[in-house]
Amino acid sequence: MSTNASSNPVVRPGDNVTTQNIVASHRALAFWHTMIGKKIVMAVTGVVLVGFVIAHMLGNLKIFSGPDEINAYSRFLREVGTPELAYGQLLWVVRIVLLLCVALHITAAVQLSRMSWAARPVGYGVKRNIETTFSARLMRWGGVILVAFIIFHLFHLTAGAVGFYAGQFKHLEVYQNVMAAFTVWPVAIFYIVAMGTLCLHLDHGIWSMLQTLGWNTARNERTLKFVSRAIAIVVFLGFSSVPVSVLADWLH
Ligand code: HEM
Repeated sequence: MSTNASSNPVVRPGDNVTTQNIVASHRALAFWHTMIGKKIVMAVTGVVLVGFVIAHMLGNLKIFSGPDEINAYSRFLREVGTPELAYGQLLWVVRIVLLLCVALHITAAVQLSRMSWAARPVGYGVKRNIETTFSARLMRWGGVILVAFIIFHLFHLTAGAVGFYAGQFKHLEVYQNVMAAFTVWPVAIFYIVAMGTLCLHLDHGIWSMLQTLGWNTARNERTLKFVSRAIAIVVFLGFSSVPVSVLADWLH
């Protein structure tokens, strides 16, 4: 879609609310169709997803305080907002927001890749930026692995539909479920490898996100790269500590 004057109508005083809404959605669509629009959508949804990942990692650490603590936390996630809201209602709002963010993040990533492939000059004598190509590939493949991990993870530790004997998975008994899940060592190793992939994705992703949002300057570039890497490593260590502790028999 083009963004020229004929396709981008102007709101005039006196225009009614419907006209203004149409113009606003038209502008939002025109923005989405630009490369920078998609990058900003990736960055903003990235902020939400990184926020969720950090919160989830911190929540998981409650396992080290024992079964009562983490199981109560799981109940709290469903009871929060009651009685004003129905049981689990806020959790559903969070799930829908996360799903929307994941869908937008992936759609923007796929479309940006297509745009950059279409714009890339081909032929002899074209010097490609090896580093950029490598990071882009790492992000793309990392993203694919993470989507596969999340789908497995939802069927596994949220629904208990895979990886458990019949009757072994118990709703709201997070401690017992996690213990049972990670005593199967290939599953624990798979989680640790997936967390390594997440770490690489966050290392580059957070830095890209900060650049897109215009936070980087010549002076703070090294600091922001350090902060991105530090967050990625802390997330890796925090998440991995759970399967590692079950495998090492540090949790009972
Ligand atoms: C070692 C790493 C991880 C462990 C041990 C773990 C553990 C869990 C557990 C026990 C639940 C169920 C909680 C409950 O029912 O109250 C859960 C849910 C979930 N986890 Fe993880 N998780 C890990 C990593 C991740 C990662 C990396 C992501 C995303 C990038 C993720 C996304 C989710 C989502 C979306 C849910 C569903 C929340 C819901 O809708 O109820 N998890 N996780």
